[in-house]
Amino acid sequence: MRPVSTVILGTGSYAPSRVLTNADLAKQVDTSEEWIVSRTGIRERRMAAADESTSDMAAKAGAKALEDAGLAAADIDLLIVATVTPDLVMPACACIVQRKLAIPHHAACFDLNAACSGFIYALDTACAMISSGRYKHALVIGAEKFSAILDWKDRSTCILFGDGAGATVIGGSETPNIGLLATKLGAYGESVDLLYIPAGGSDQPATPASIAAGDHCVKMKGKEVFKFAVRAMEEAARDILEQEGLTADHIDCVIPHQANLRIIEAISQYLKLPMDRFFINLDRYGNTSAASVPIALDEARRAGRIKRGDLTLMVAFGAGLTYGSALIRW
Ligand code: ACO
Repeated sequence: MRPVSTVILGTGSYAPSRVLTNADLAKQVDTSEEWIVSRTGIRERRMAAADESTSDMAAKAGAKALEDAGLAAADIDLLIVATVTPDLVMPACACIVQRKLAIPHHAACFDLNAACSGFIYALDTACAMISSGRYKHALVIGAEKFSAILDWKDRSTCILFGDGAGATVIGGSETPNIGLLATKLGAYGESVDLLYIPAGGSDQPATPASIAAGDHCVKMKGKEVFKFAVRAMEEAARDILEQEGLTADHIDCVIPHQANLRIIEAISQYLKLPMDRFFINLDRYGNTSAASVPIALDEARRAGRIKRGDLTLMVAFGAGLTYGSALIRW
């Protein structure tokens, strides 16, 4: 039977224990606490241990979300892991998480790559699959070990990112007008080369020369990505509100992708939505890519920033260049 609505039944998150501060980074590359804080708002980020994988972090966040939802792994019949840093190129990280959490064999398990917009893409996908009536409970995880794909000699990128995972459990409900009300997803594929990893895929398999050149690490044109981020996140937020006949005043809490405080401040200004309605934790985690929105969502809920009946807006952008927004009534 098709449910009337699709709702978030539980959330969870996990961050590795090792903290890398701006002062630590200033010992490795030519940067400073002042530069990083004034340009990004980031003060520290978490680093996975050498033997800690994306799937380890994803499974820990997933277990917490299941506990919060009051469900068992046996109840899950759909598992989506949004990530650009899967443990292996093949098979999917979701299959490794399935094994770690003992999710049943009849569950559909796959990865989704939309970079930092990945969680919102995965949420929309899971809700559509549950709305079809063919799946009952989805575990949707955003998880990244971004430290594994950074060039630690490139000060323009290595200061921005961190590791972690966030998860949600999604199910159907017979109550109308709650849960996921609307989404807006999109991409500007013509701008692929503003943020990408040149080598290590099938186009340019890794060679000793590509590794020596650092081509298996993230390359980014920061200024262009910044401009895209502000424009795309503002449009994605505005479009979804218009679509639902709402205004910014109706939003109780915004969960933005935690890339850069200046990007969030610009969106706050353009949408005329005060900064105190935005949940921000990038000062502690940096940009955790697909994990950023679900970690922030989990922390916002546990901090009491989201109450029953509230309207939450999630909005993100990422490599691709992709963007996405989602409106949730609790
Ligand atoms: N420390 C000190 N100086 C630095 C550093 C650093 N860590 N990084 C760059 N600089 C220098 C530059 O070399 C440049 O020096 P120059 O003027 O002598 O050439 C100067 O600082 C200014 O550099 P800009 O790149 O112009 O600095 P900007 O104000 O644009 O800030 C930043 C850079 C923080 C990267 C910004 O552009 C940004 O946040 N862009 C968006 C990036 C982003 O969010 N990416 C994530 C995408 S999500 C995903 O899918 C992974």
